[in-house]
Amino acid sequence: MLVEGRTVALPTARRGRRSGGPSGRVATTMAKTIAVANQKGGVGKTTTSVNLAACLAALQFRTLLVDIDPQGNATSGVGCDRASLGRSIYDALSGACELSDAVIPTTVELLSLAPASTDLAGAEVELVGVTDRERVLRAALASVAHDYDYVLIDCPPSLGLLTINALVAADTVLVPIQTEYYALEGLARLLDTIELVRRSLNGALALEGLVLTMHDGRNNLSRQVEAEVREHFAAQTYETVIPRNVRLSESPSFGQPIILYDIRSVGAKSYLDLAREFIERNASTHAQL
Ligand SMILES: Nc1ncnc2c1ncn2[C@@H]1O[C@H](COP(=O)(O)OP(=O)(O)OP(=O)(O)O)[C@@H](O)[C@H]1O
Ligand SMILES: [Mg+2]
Repeated sequence: MLVEGRTVALPTARRGRRSGGPSGRVATTMAKTIAVANQKGGVGKTTTSVNLAACLAALQFRTLLVDIDPQGNATSGVGCDRASLGRSIYDALSGACELSDAVIPTTVELLSLAPASTDLAGAEVELVGVTDRERVLRAALASVAHDYDYVLIDCPPSLGLLTINALVAADTVLVPIQTEYYALEGLARLLDTIELVRRSLNGALALEGLVLTMHDGRNNLSRQVEAEVREHFAAQTYETVIPRNVRLSESPSFGQPIILYDIRSVGAKSYLDLAREFIERNASTHAQL
């Protein structure tokens, strides 16, 4: 495929049937870990992480949302008060505690959170001196892998060490693409980084897919961007498109995923559709490469 004038070849997530499933049916499966990443800022990474995670939990999958972004938007987005945090993902990365000691429940049943505190900003620098610095999150997550069906990691808007840790810990990468000007800007670099991580640090890493976000069907540009992305990434782009929806932008300030804030909104419907498509794609026996 051709992105920004370059040819990019990446394996897509293998669509093998997972032996895991809605909570209660199978207790022994390993979680599938998905990094939600795009180094471009404000494209809908956190909105997608929080709401896809909440919808997967609502569909009865045990889900862990890991906030690896020092901004902590996923943490506050599910109603966790950062000021009164106990243990956080920072403590787990720095070895002060097990990741399981940092995990807290949320107001959504079956959705747990590994929260980010403000000191996570220091981890980017502190990790530099650590042995196996790219594998710290992977090692921390290994201890909770049997407790969940899905682990979603909300990445910061950079390709720094925290995002690299997420890519090394992940099975697949989900890339939100804002249907705006320069939507594909930087995508080739992200795909190159994924490929680099796949070659050197995590041979199993695959692309989960691309999700079009903040789409406005009345806007020519939105439609053009959608057409362009689908042309380059036909198999990888989700059918479900997340529309621009004011209820989605309001819900974080109430600390609620959209399905709690306004279940009747188009935002809630679209993220539930995305979750169903995600489950279907993961359950499908059709390998798509
Ligand atoms: N579908 C949508 N409709 C309306 N507003 C949205 C939608 N998706 C995201 N937003 C809003 O756009 C802004 C950016 O979204 P979000 O925080 O999810 O992006 P991000 O990629 O995580 O940003 P960052 O790179 O800073 O981490 C937020 O204010 C969010 O509420
Ligand atoms: Mg974010």
